[in-house]
Amino acid sequence: MKSLVILISGRGSNMQALLESGYPRDCMTVISNNPNAAGLEIAKNYGVATIVLDHRSFPDRETFDVALAEKIDACKPKLVALAGFMRILSDRFVQHYQGRLMNIHPSLLPAFPGLGTHARALQEGVKIHGCTVHFVTPKLDHGPIVIQAAVPVLPDDTEQTLASRVLQLEHRIYPQAVRWFMDGCIQFIDNRVEVTNSGSDGMMLYSPGLPE
Ligand code: GAR
Repeated sequence: MKSLVILISGRGSNMQALLESGYPRDCMTVISNNPNAAGLEIAKNYGVATIVLDHRSFPDRETFDVALAEKIDACKPKLVALAGFMRILSDRFVQHYQGRLMNIHPSLLPAFPGLGTHARALQEGVKIHGCTVHFVTPKLDHGPIVIQAAVPVLPDDTEQTLASRVLQLEHRIYPQAVRWFMDGCIQFIDNRVEVTNSGSDGMMLYSPGLPE
């Protein structure tokens, strides 16, 4: 089985979804740039190897990224999955993992890259919001999209209610995207992702609903 490296910085709920995905946990390694990340405890409880590399003990971004790449490469991963890894990665790092570095982002990209996605979605009055798994390119929260999931934005939504509805879908689509990649179902065509054998039923979603 090919190895999977998961990078986290905090809570680790998407990491947990990946740990529970059925992919063998002895092929997984979790790396955190934050020694206090709650996700580290979760990973240990699942018996998954963990590594802490505190970015604060490095003089600059490039030096940290080189050390991080060394740790990752020692695991010989087929895929590196960013799961709430809240650091901007240097272009050199991103290029080194081109085509095998995935991220999950809490918006329907290319809408709302960056932070505060749920508050911005509410402020804009969008009717549908969601999350995206994409391959990472040097441009922040941008790159070939693997899968997206959408939720309706409800009239009484707060940032928290919307975030929690989106997060539930994050936990479904990230394991799916990783499984597709590990199973060799992902192809790049003209810099876009094509998934073979996705089993999609092609259903459509409207919000608010349309009259019959
Ligand atoms: C998730 O909502 C993830 O989509 C987001 O951070 C949260 C991490 O939660 N990632 C980004 O905003 C990356 N641009 P988690 O640690 O519980 O998975």
